[in-house]
Amino acid sequence: MLNDLLANNKKWAEQMEERHPGFFQQLAEQQKPEYLWIGCSDSRVPANEIVGLMPGELFVHRNIANLVLHTDLNCISVLHFAVEVLQVKHIIVCGHYGCGGVRAALGNQDLGLIDNWLRHIKDIGYSYREILAEEPSKDSRVDRLCELNVKQQVANICKTKVVQRAWQQGHELAVHGWIYSIEDGVIKDLNVDVHDQSAMPEIYNIY
Ligand code: CO
Repeated sequence: MLNDLLANNKKWAEQMEERHPGFFQQLAEQQKPEYLWIGCSDSRVPANEIVGLMPGELFVHRNIANLVLHTDLNCISVLHFAVEVLQVKHIIVCGHYGCGGVRAALGNQDLGLIDNWLRHIKDIGYSYREILAEEPSKDSRVDRLCELNVKQQVANICKTKVVQRAWQQGHELAVHGWIYSIEDGVIKDLNVDVHDQSAMPEIYNIY
């Protein structure tokens, strides 16, 4: 089975080089992606593929349920590198409907270690419990929380020192919230774009 993957890779590399001569040589010299993608680890949401971008065009961080936590050194380091070194112009948080992490966070089962991670989603669910209660079914409640979770992560990104500093220094940087439907492959824009410090409560600003 693993040998199949390696054989696939060889074929892929040959085809890429055939279609775009010098492609890998060029990429080897530098990466200059304009976008940072923060998405779910879910195997059905492959970042580059669903937005039609080539290797080199998308800087990617994925974790369960696309969370951006201030104490997560992994995610914050990716954010830091993307903004300060690569100078990406757009940060996209892309959630997806039917997210297993979000579904688990709405339940009461003891799942072990991962509960500590999912707890952040549970907190969002609790804050919006009245909105969620209006949803007609368990599935639609999950989907609504998937959207609310993306919005919360967009806000979390805007509050980070990395992003505040970039805006304070006048860099062109926007944060966006999207959600992907596994059922039809289509991304919906949640229209929560933030382009500067003005939209954030003053306490998070850096002067
Ligand atoms: Co997910």
